[in-house]
Amino acid sequence: MTTSPRTALITGASAGIGATFARHLAASGYQLLLVARRADRLRELAEQLTGDHGVRCEVFAADLTDPAAPAAIVDFADQQGLDIDVLINNAGLSGKTAFADTPWDALAGEIQLMVTAPTELAHRVIPGMKKRQWGRIINLSSVAAFAPPGASLLYTGIKSYVLNASQSLDMELKPHGIHVTALCPGLTHTEFHDVMGTRDKADHLPAILWQQPDAVVTEALAAVMNGKPVCVPGVVNKISAAAMKPLPIRLGYFVGKTFNPFKNG
Ligand SMILES: NC(=O)c1ccc[n+]([C@@H]2O[C@H](COP(=O)([O-])OP(=O)(O)OC[C@H]3O[C@@H](n4cnc5c(N)ncnc54)[C@H](OP(=O)(O)O)[C@@H]3O)[C@@H](O)[C@H]2O)c1
Repeated sequence: MTTSPRTALITGASAGIGATFARHLAASGYQLLLVARRADRLRELAEQLTGDHGVRCEVFAADLTDPAAPAAIVDFADQQGLDIDVLINNAGLSGKTAFADTPWDALAGEIQLMVTAPTELAHRVIPGMKKRQWGRIINLSSVAAFAPPGASLLYTGIKSYVLNASQSLDMELKPHGIHVTALCPGLTHTEFHDVMGTRDKADHLPAILWQQPDAVVTEALAAVMNGKPVCVPGVVNKISAAAMKPLPIRLGYFVGKTFNPFKNG
């Protein structure tokens, strides 16, 4: 009897860490459903991965700041007969301007993109995973979730939510054969800092602080398959997370206010 290959849904698959997850999972024989706004990039990647690995690769262009997007993605998967076994909630960005200077629609979009959409996607695919008694979910947090809060940005708060909610979900779902991992990368060579407008500042940071997306994804996939609820990839990030976590709150506030290399103005 032949069994159909497992399927992975990856958000933010048009660039960076998400595209790297797509390459690694395709090479391991997973079928893919790739989501992002840039359909041309998704189609190009899908064609390449199908050509290289012979796996089925579907594309769904969606803006995850649209509250209707998660339901539309899962409806599309259902219509295509794809059961989602692996969910990679990866799409994200960091705002560019101070909280009070940013229009509410943009802030609401950040929360929808990195809090509500990943939470809703998980909620929509978990029933199928429970039925099949197998599932793997990776939620993109950041080493920033361990760091002191940075001035002006929602980012550390959002990534702290992802870190905490992922661990709660993992506790709830492990008995059903579903592993959930919060992935907490540090500086990773992707388009993230181009989108944020901090490329010049980022390029001046020491090379030892940076990882390639391949290293991040390799460690993340091993973590989720082995049931580790939190993955901080790379030795330098592990040391930073361990060093920052026990800071007293007032000292953390001071450090965050003083040393945030990405603060604008
Ligand atoms: N790079 C780092 O240093 C770093 C460190 C820690 C955590 N992270 C996290 O890693 C994740 C991936 O980031 P990356 O570094 O790979 O950045 P990236 O290269 O800029 O990729 C971001 C991805 O998110 C997608 N995306 C952004 N807004 C979207 C929207 N409204 N709707 C749908 N998709 C959207 C983008 O696709 P489209 O533009 O085509 O929509 C793109 O595929 C993010 O959650 C980020 O917070 C990154």
